[in-house]
Amino acid sequence: MKAVIPAAGLGTRFLPVTRVVPKEMLPIGARPALEHIVEEARQAGAEETVIVISEGKELIRKYFEGASDIRFVYQKEQKGLGHAVLQAAELFGNAEPGEKILVLLGDAVVTGGCASAELAAALKTSGAAQAIGFERVPMEKVSRYGIAKMRSAPEGGVFMLDDLVEKPRVEDAPSDFAVAGRYLLDVSVFGFLAGQGAGYGGEIQLTDAIRRMISAGVESVGCAYSGRRQDIGNPEGYFKALEAYYGRC
Ligand code: UTP
Repeated sequence: MKAVIPAAGLGTRFLPVTRVVPKEMLPIGARPALEHIVEEARQAGAEETVIVISEGKELIRKYFEGASDIRFVYQKEQKGLGHAVLQAAELFGNAEPGEKILVLLGDAVVTGGCASAELAAALKTSGAAQAIGFERVPMEKVSRYGIAKMRSAPEGGVFMLDDLVEKPRVEDAPSDFAVAGRYLLDVSVFGFLAGQGAGYGGEIQLTDAIRRMISAGVESVGCAYSGRRQDIGNPEGYFKALEAYYGRC
């Protein structure tokens, strides 16, 4: 298994501090958030991790200098999450067909469990080609997320995925399971991303490529992992992540 951590985003929701400190490098305990995420990838069995960075985020490179399992690639223009993941494709030129690519969002820290290991377990038991991480959200918030349309009822949190519906209205939402920052994807995702046009917000969306994979017959399961995703991309989310880390909520 190989891992990609996109960390090249602009971080506008966390300005002005992100003008000098990447949000991915904000501390949780004595370690940057990103190191907790790298550690999660290792725990799940990733033998190599590519971190996608951008100009001005060299602090990340400096911090991880010397780690033999980490490489870096630049995303020159911030064209979206799908585009960021695609930048890792050339470094994974040696990947075998059927190999799995673990994608962990650089600003999503999971507390209370190893989400990526749960995705790997879901893949193994289901025999599917890829597994996507979900969390349940209050119904009134579904319009902020990519929402699962299920083909089977969840069993132990794992279900067959039929489609993803991007930011549905409450009345149109097929479930309350929201995409949650962890994806264990078939390596063919790079081919799908290469042909992916701009979608929501004019950005190349990973969700759009995954939808095309599902339509093309790439068997996909959803996995509602047991930990809690903390979005450290804004000050309130970061505060909640610290509270969760120190066991105060
Ligand atoms: P976000 O959706 O939070 O985007 O990215 P962002 O641009 O970083 O933040 P805002 O909206 O300006 O506040 C989720 C993860 O994907 C990375 C980010 O660094 C973050 O870790 N990302 C996003 C990229 O690497 N490249 C992109 O073009 C977009």
